[in-house]
Amino acid sequence: MRDVGCLLISSFIFTALTKTNNMYEGLLHTHNLLRWVILVFLLLNIFRHLMAGNQPFNKTDKGLGLPLLIAAHLTLLIGVYQWIVGPWGLKMIQEKGMSAVMKDAVNRFWAIEHPLMMLIAIILITVGRAQARTKHTSRIQHRRSLIYFTLALIAVMLAVPWPWREVIGRPWLPGMQ
Ligand code: HEM
Repeated sequence: MRDVGCLLISSFIFTALTKTNNMYEGLLHTHNLLRWVILVFLLLNIFRHLMAGNQPFNKTDKGLGLPLLIAAHLTLLIGVYQWIVGPWGLKMIQEKGMSAVMKDAVNRFWAIEHPLMMLIAIILITVGRAQARTKHTSRIQHRRSLIYFTLALIAVMLAVPWPWREVIGRPWLPGMQ
């Protein structure tokens, strides 16, 4: 499962980057696709820890957490790059001023709400995955991972610019309308 996840991440990045001439757009596509890797692996991890009961925290549990951690950290790196270099983050704040950005719901979403909520989600994923390395009993490891990953899922669901969201909505997949 771990290898499938890592292969999926690399092929998504390769596809997104080779389909465009422009690096910013390629990274935006990668950022878009990695959202699906994060969601699928969050659900798989949550299901696994939910069903674990008293079973030992084993290799499969650790393996399932790794692609999630890699995808989350890659998304963070690309997100920070987009925020600094792209039109919706730092540049917009410098041009319009913080108070003007905060007064506009769309600008506020991209400059503050999306990055902040996602940062919280990535911290939760990191702490959830780190449970694999603690010395607690397996039951506690499963329960804590479950809590952290569930909270991360809620944060991601709230902060993704889903296509149905007015004005801020973005496509399900790169290239779709
Ligand atoms: C779990 C983490 C994250 C997920 C699932 C996520 C998801 C997304 C999605 C689906 C888009 C729309 C992509 C498209 O238009 O095709 C997007 C855009 C964007 N994200 Fe994230 N994101 C995450 C983390 C972050 C972080 C941490 C930052 C900043 C520090 C960030 C900054 C941005 C920016 C600035 C855009 C708009 C870029 C543009 O249109 O030029 N994202 N994100």
